[in-house]
Amino acid sequence: MAAPWAEVLISDHHVTEQLFEAVDRAFQAEEPPPRSLVEGMLSYFTEYVDGCHNKKEEEHVFPLAERLGIPRHGGPLAVMLQEHEMSQELLGRIRQLANLWLSGREEALPRLRQAVLEYTGLLRNHFWKETDILYPMVSRLMGPDDHAAVMRGIEEVEARLGADSRARYHAMARDLAERGGLRNLVHNLDLDTIGWMLDSLPVELSFVDENDKVRYFSHENHDKIFPRTRGAIGTDVRNCHPEKSVHLVERILADFKAGRREVAEFWIDFGGRKVHIRYFPVRDADGAYKGCLEVVQDITAIQQLTGERRLLAEEA
Ligand SMILES: [Fe+2]
Ligand SMILES: [Fe+2]
Repeated sequence: MAAPWAEVLISDHHVTEQLFEAVDRAFQAEEPPPRSLVEGMLSYFTEYVDGCHNKKEEEHVFPLAERLGIPRHGGPLAVMLQEHEMSQELLGRIRQLANLWLSGREEALPRLRQAVLEYTGLLRNHFWKETDILYPMVSRLMGPDDHAAVMRGIEEVEARLGADSRARYHAMARDLAERGGLRNLVHNLDLDTIGWMLDSLPVELSFVDENDKVRYFSHENHDKIFPRTRGAIGTDVRNCHPEKSVHLVERILADFKAGRREVAEFWIDFGGRKVHIRYFPVRDADGAYKGCLEVVQDITAIQQLTGERRLLAEEA
């Protein structure tokens, strides 16, 4: 049974190794890695592995090991520190190449692949040496006060990333490893809450999926600018528009699917109100077309705003 401080560091190693496996798989595959994995991996390696895990060791484990007689130069400590530096250099290179690749420079991918695999290989080996050799060696030399001091130090370093940082970053690594990307924050909410949030927006929404089928509209039991019924759900969007505007719908959807357009905007006078209607393509984290969102807003009152209001209406 390892000491509690070592348990914490070993759990960092295990969780990070799970992510390494997914990253290796993605970077060894024929096709390019998912963008969401690359972006999440950069955050995790930079903020947690380099910015937190390695700091816990450099600030609290290694200095104590030195005080307890393990030489800083020419022994296992020197190797560990050197490997931290090497991993930091590699991470710098990965960040640079990943940013190039993410901005569309496809020729950066082979070098990115090489740097990533070198990084995971180096750290996998490094983690093993710490878990199996260095931690037990230091642990044997430590007294009870030392154990408590290292644990406090580790908690201080983790607190720099906010409350529960270890649990949050471990969850992030598991998410990346299991899904090849980060879970959308919306997973923190239940579906009813999401529905209430959408119904609270000062705009009416409707959503058509990638097959042009109507899937959702907001404000079902509220007054709406354009009345909508549940019967429309599942029907082709072309059936929901007057004959004379179907060609426009076709054109907008075709442009969105082809990536030629990011918004289509109209405004009309309707029932004495100025109504602003916008269509946006909905794309997933990797940019694939997932559908079209219609946003309808009564902007009559907004158009009439002048001057400023900096207090609540009843206080003004
Ligand atoms: Fe380390
Ligand atoms: Fe470590």
